[in-house]
Amino acid sequence: SKHYTITLLPGDGIGPEVISVATNVLKLAASLEGIEFDFQEMPVGGAALDSTGLPLPAETLSAAKQSDAVLLGAIGGYKWDKNEKHLKPETGLLQLRAGLQVFANLRPATVLPQLVDASTLKKEVAEGVDLMVVRELTGGIYFGKPRGFGVNENGQEIGFNTEVYATHEIDRIARVAFETARKRSGKLCSVDKANVLEASIFWRKRVTAIASEYPDVELSHMYVDNAAMQLVRDPKQFDTIVTNNIFGDILSDEASMITGSIGMLPSASLGESGPGLFEPIHGSAPDIAGQDKANPLATVLSAAMLLKYGLGEENAAKRIEAAVLDTLSRGYRTGDIYSAGNKLVGCKEMGEEVLKSVDSQVPAP
Ligand code: NAD
Ligand code: IPM
Ligand code: MN
Repeated sequence: SKHYTITLLPGDGIGPEVISVATNVLKLAASLEGIEFDFQEMPVGGAALDSTGLPLPAETLSAAKQSDAVLLGAIGGYKWDKNEKHLKPETGLLQLRAGLQVFANLRPATVLPQLVDASTLKKEVAEGVDLMVVRELTGGIYFGKPRGFGVNENGQEIGFNTEVYATHEIDRIARVAFETARKRSGKLCSVDKANVLEASIFWRKRVTAIASEYPDVELSHMYVDNAAMQLVRDPKQFDTIVTNNIFGDILSDEASMITGSIGMLPSASLGESGPGLFEPIHGSAPDIAGQDKANPLATVLSAAMLLKYGLGEENAAKRIEAAVLDTLSRGYRTGDIYSAGNKLVGCKEMGEEVLKSVDSQVPAP
C-alpha cells in the first residue's frame, strides 16, 4: 500500500479543533484507497511561541520540508497580538510559506447547491458560482523591503512597507494561473491597481507577456477596487482570478461569503517542488475557539486538496468532497452556515457525520 508522511500543524484557537476532524476524515478516505499515513504533529504560531519561544521552530520547518505534505489549522490570538514583529504567530506562518517556497496559493470559492441559502447574496446571484483565486503568496508587500518603523523629515513617527515584485515572481504565478484557467473555463482575470502603483503596472506587463504562451486562455485585467465590487455584483462573471499577495488575501475572504461562510473555504499552497501546504483560508477565530462551534469543513476540504494537489491521489480527494456534499445534503450545519430547518451541530459532531458519509462510500460528485 502507498505510504505518505504528513506534518500536522494544528496551531491556535480553533486550529486544533478543525485539524482533529480533518485528520480523521483524511485517514478514513485515504484508507479506502489503500493509502496509509505517518502523521507528525508539530507546533507553530502561538502554541510554538509558548512551548519554544519561536513562532516557527527550526524542527517544525525541517519536519515540514521532509514530509510529503503539510496540513495547517490556523494561527494567532489576542495573547500574542502585542508581541514584537518577529515573535508574532503570523510571522511563523509567513516564515513557513517562505521556507517551503509555496508561492502559488489556490483558493477555490464554490457555491454548493446545498448552501445557496447560506449565502448573504440573493439566490440568483450566488447560485452556480465557481471561481478560483490564484494568490501570489511569498512576495509583494508582505515580504518587500524596506519595511519597518522610523521617523520622517518632520520628526513624525512612521511605519512603512514596500510592494515589490520581480520578473520571475510574476512570471511563475502567472503561469500557474494560466494553467489553472486552461483546465477550467479558459478565462483568466488579473487583478491589480495599475492605475496607481508601479508594482501593479509591472505586474500587468508581465502577465500580458506570459499570456502569449497561452493563446487558448482569454485574459482580462481589472482594478482591485472594481473587482471587489464586481465580486458581489455578479460573481459568475469570474472563473480564475490571479492577483498579488495582499489583494488575494482580501478578495478571497470576500469571495468566501458568496459561498455562505469563511468556514467553508480551503486552500492549497504550492511551489515548484517540495511539499505543499494546505490550510483553510480562515484564521484562529478566537471569538469561538474552545467552544466546539467551528466549521471544520474548510479544513476537511483542505485535506481533499492535499490529496489531489499534494499527493496526486484524486480518488481519495473525491471521496472527501462527496462526503462533505452528502453530509450537507443530510442537513447537518454548524452555526456559521445554519438556516432554519437544518440540524445545528458543533465541530465534533459535524466531523462524525462526515466520517459516516465517507464510510457509506457515497459516489463522487
Ligand atoms: P478569522 O478568520 O479567525 O475570524 C473571522 C470571523 O470568522 C470570526 O467571527 C470567526 O468566528 C469566523 N470564523 C472563522 N473561521 C470559522 C470557522 N471555521 N467556523 C465558523 N466561524 C469561523 O479572522 P480574524 O478574527 O481577523 O483573525 C483572528 C486571528 O487569526 C488573528 O490572530 C489573525 O492574525 C489570525 N489569522 C490566521 C490565519 C491563518 O492561520 N491562516 C488566517 C486569518 C487570520
Ligand atoms: C491568511 C491570513 C494570513 C495572511 C495572516 C494570518 C498572515 O490572513 O492566510 O489568509 O495574511 O496571509
Ligand atoms: Mn487572510
